[in-house]
Amino acid sequence: MAYPAPALLDKLASLLGAKGFTRDPGDMAPWLSDWRGRYHGAAAAMLSPATREEIVEIVRLCAAAQVALVPQGGNSSMVGGATPDSSGEALIVSTRRMKRIRSLDAEAGLAVCEAGVILADLHATALAAGRRFPLTLGAKGSATIGGLVSTNAGGTQVLRFGPMRALVQGIEAVLPDGSLFEGLTALRKDNRGYDLRQLLIGAEGTLGIVTAATLTLVPAAAGRAVAWAGVASATDATRLLRHLEAALGDAVESFELVPKSALDLVLAHVPGTWAPLAAAVPWNVLIEAVGPNPDEPLSRALAIALESGLVADAVVAASEAQAQAFWRLRDSISEAEKKDGPAAKHDISVAVGDMAPFMTEAAAAVEARFAGTRVNAFGHLGDGNVHFNVRAPEGAGPGWVESIGEEVSAFVHDLVTAAGGSISAEHGIGQMKVGELARLGDPARLDALRAIKRALDPANIMNPGKLVPPVDPMEAPSFHQSLAQKGVRP
Ligand code: FAD
Ligand code: MLT
Ligand code: ZN
Repeated sequence: MAYPAPALLDKLASLLGAKGFTRDPGDMAPWLSDWRGRYHGAAAAMLSPATREEIVEIVRLCAAAQVALVPQGGNSSMVGGATPDSSGEALIVSTRRMKRIRSLDAEAGLAVCEAGVILADLHATALAAGRRFPLTLGAKGSATIGGLVSTNAGGTQVLRFGPMRALVQGIEAVLPDGSLFEGLTALRKDNRGYDLRQLLIGAEGTLGIVTAATLTLVPAAAGRAVAWAGVASATDATRLLRHLEAALGDAVESFELVPKSALDLVLAHVPGTWAPLAAAVPWNVLIEAVGPNPDEPLSRALAIALESGLVADAVVAASEAQAQAFWRLRDSISEAEKKDGPAAKHDISVAVGDMAPFMTEAAAAVEARFAGTRVNAFGHLGDGNVHFNVRAPEGAGPGWVESIGEEVSAFVHDLVTAAGGSISAEHGIGQMKVGELARLGDPARLDALRAIKRALDPANIMNPGKLVPPVDPMEAPSFHQSLAQKGVRP
């Protein structure tokens, strides 16, 4: 990789203008660290193109000069994926000025969105047209379409609609040689060989820059019912999910697990929050059912579960405000955990039916192995995905993750891998898990990843150091080390 020559920077500055080019440290600072504040990088400049044509020109010039590009959307990555390394050689390519919804066809149920469209804005625009985009997550106010596509994001509606990959019908992207891939047409049938669209989904900016996507819209919800229930165990939570699915079918769109530890964190650190149930329970579940009149069937199903003892207590939100308050509890867990102190974070998945026993046994094993630690495992139980976070022992200093985090995470990831699971369910690999993917990934997967990367980006200018482990595993930053700390120049 080369440091961008002054002539190149001048060309980019005149191409993009004052709104699209900055080297000002103050302008760049918020975009040089990740949301968790774990990764801190440097960049020669931050580019904010307004059109796909400008991105084509940026990539064409940088490919010729072998200058690294770090695509960035809302910068809400949980794995340091959009944070450059410390070399200062890379250029951030922000899509935040490309926020047009090019078209919305309510009848066809399709929206063509530029990469910088923010998720919450798409939600609002779709709703105004009597439709909805059925993917949401706690970062909806900042996550962009380009970032959601590039991470194949999940969120809290995967249970019914699948992850981002299931909602993408077309992609437009600039490839590492500067060519424009125009694949926006929503074709139900298209057999022209390797599907570049599928390769770009979840590529984390390593195979090109997504400039727009054609997304599926579904009819607006006729109504929703949101409930909060208490159960004795994660296994009972899975049983409750099966019971509700039997009673309500696919009206159940969200089923989120919230352990007592996570609720306590939110109540302690997020002002204005309150516990929905009178008495504390070991495990809580947030349920959302969608349909014409979901309240009554959901209340009835919960009443049956109460009678059978499966559920200790439950409440169905009596108003939209209460429903939003329940969701706020769930969506604030990351923020509350961040405020509370150091934790080794893991985004894991196993087969859906195995998650409850797995997380129960794994939590016991971790807490036995690492004295004083507290497992806070929450999230998308219905998808077989939880955020299995290991909080530092009470009183542990801010350096706890740096000191022992790697050992803790290797222990957790070994358990997940032994159970046939994934060390990255929805957040991606970024720079955070490159070392662990190198350590645990099967050779066929690793070789294929490297071969595809080499074929499409031989100069390795696209988001270097992310996702694709280097051939020499010793070069990869360890789990809790950043590219910056490792001093890696990919
Ligand atoms: P960024 O953080 O800017 O980038 C993410 C990755 O995509 C980087 O590798 C970047 O290089 C690449 N990229 C971004 N834009 C482009 C583009 N146009 N072309 C090519 N590459 C690009 N994630 C989930 O999956 N499920 C959740 O439930 C969830 N909840 C979250 C809750 C909170 C509070 C926060 C802070 C984050 C959460 N996330 C969750 C993580 C995050 O929101 C997602 O990963 C999201 O998809 C990132 O979008 P972004 O626009 O912020 O991307
Ligand atoms: C969530 O489900 O809240 C997120 O994926 C965030 C996290 O893991 O902290
Ligand atoms: Zn999640």
